[in-house]
Amino acid sequence: MAMMDLSCDEVLPQIDIESVGEEVPLLEGMRTARAIRRLRPDPVPPALIRKVCEAGTFAPSGGNRQPWTFVAVTEPERRGFVAERYRRAFESYIAPAREAAKDPGFPEAKRRNIRAALYLAEHMHAVPVHLFVAGWLRRGEPQIQALFPAVQNVLLACRAVGLGASLTTVHRAFGDEIDAFLGLPPDRPTCALLPIGWPLGRFGRPPRRSVDTCLFWERYGG
Ligand SMILES: Cc1cc2nc3c(=O)[nH]c(=O)nc-3n(C[C@H](O)[C@H](O)[C@H](O)COP(=O)(O)O)c2cc1C
Repeated sequence: MAMMDLSCDEVLPQIDIESVGEEVPLLEGMRTARAIRRLRPDPVPPALIRKVCEAGTFAPSGGNRQPWTFVAVTEPERRGFVAERYRRAFESYIAPAREAAKDPGFPEAKRRNIRAALYLAEHMHAVPVHLFVAGWLRRGEPQIQALFPAVQNVLLACRAVGLGASLTTVHRAFGDEIDAFLGLPPDRPTCALLPIGWPLGRFGRPPRRSVDTCLFWERYGG
């Protein structure tokens, strides 16, 4: 697959880290935090990454154990290492869906989703921040359920401060290798990779089925 080089403005934008994002209403932020996979290569201030990770740390966790660890990869060669593995993992993951999408009856919304996800896989090396979320094992088991609330908080905080982001997990196909590359011990595996940068597109409401199709009172199907 082609690896396109995008021009990059190395100057960090001047942003008031304290105030940025604080004005976005919570529910509106949730409704408009769609996966933003088309990102500019321009750098993101480290203080802003710190701010969105701090939002992550306000997530709930069992016994308030706070098992999360965040590792932000920004150096181009290191991003290249991650991107190369992500692309390989994604290509094999998406192959059946690409095949299915050849059917003229394949839903256009799904086709758009595949295109956006492929774009991300092809441009991962140019995404300025690869934010990994890892967490320690408990009783030998990964604490995935304790990490995803933190992941979602980070995604919402990105929405609030104007950063584009999405939730990805296919890097796990190379999980052990990538975790070692990040310097994580075997008892602290990554569960998610959030590619973060300034959006090329716009925030907006993602397509979702109505809540009335999935909310039931007292018993399912009533
Ligand atoms: C557990 C989980 C794993 C995901 N893994 C990936 C991934 O590896 N790559 C990717 O491009 N998107 C991944 N996604 C993102 C979904 O595809 C995305 O949330 C979905 O397409 C909806 O996007 P929207 O909010 O823009 O409508 C993942 C989402 C979840 C919840």
